[in-house]
Amino acid sequence: MTDANRIPVHVGIVMDGNGRWARARGLPRLAGHNAGMLAMKEIVKRAASLGVRHLTVYAFSTENWKRAAEEVSGIFNLLVVYVDRELAELNANNVKVRILGDYGKLPANAVERLKRSIETTANNDGMRFNIALNYGSRDEITRGLRSIAEDALAGRLALSELDEALISDRLYTAGMPDPDLIIRTGGERRLSNFLLWQSAYSEFVFSDAYWPDFSPREFEKALEEYRGRERRFGDAPPAGQNNPSPKGRVE
Ligand code: FPP
Repeated sequence: MTDANRIPVHVGIVMDGNGRWARARGLPRLAGHNAGMLAMKEIVKRAASLGVRHLTVYAFSTENWKRAAEEVSGIFNLLVVYVDRELAELNANNVKVRILGDYGKLPANAVERLKRSIETTANNDGMRFNIALNYGSRDEITRGLRSIAEDALAGRLALSELDEALISDRLYTAGMPDPDLIIRTGGERRLSNFLLWQSAYSEFVFSDAYWPDFSPREFEKALEEYRGRERRFGDAPPAGQNNPSPKGRVE
């Protein structure tokens, strides 16, 4: 079904292209991440004002530790700067912060800001702003399955209870709706270990813009593209519709 006003309930974003944005300007990579932080700030505000209920951004993956130490610590410093600048406004706008990932491995000052963000916004019921930090979907699924196996071995869980809902419940995203739309900037067309389980039926919009150039207007354009998509969750197209999918294809 298409609907001219439909806003996705949950939007995930792979914020890619900070490094190339900086290189194109002859700047250090961290200047790109700084510009990326400013872009993120604007998209959070626009998403909340458009009525998105969950916004999940991929800020630091389990694989990003391979980068130079200076870049890694620079990204975490930017996280601290972001929280120090933005937490009061996020809270005033009723945004609720949640972290996806094993963020206890981040530097102590970043962990402290994240805990403060979670605690300060705990009672808010506006947009959920989920920041994926030290997040990798395979790691998330592995941890979830390990916790299920531990419960089963200890006799707390019968194998007959293992179903998709139980697995969903053991992920960082427990209790959240699956993403309706995943946006990736920076021209690459892959998921890079982001929300693999949760994106089974997500729509994807890819933008060639580097993340620092991804303006609120670009975000609205991605939402417009999403509105034009027909989501069937494996069902057949309605009778009489043009351009039906090949018989038997699962979509
Ligand atoms: C991907 O671009 C971006 C990242 C790995 C870091 C994302 C960080 C921010 C948006 C700013 C900081 C905000 C927080 C919340 C930490 P890339 O470096 O892979 O770009 P490239 O592919 O062009 O090299």
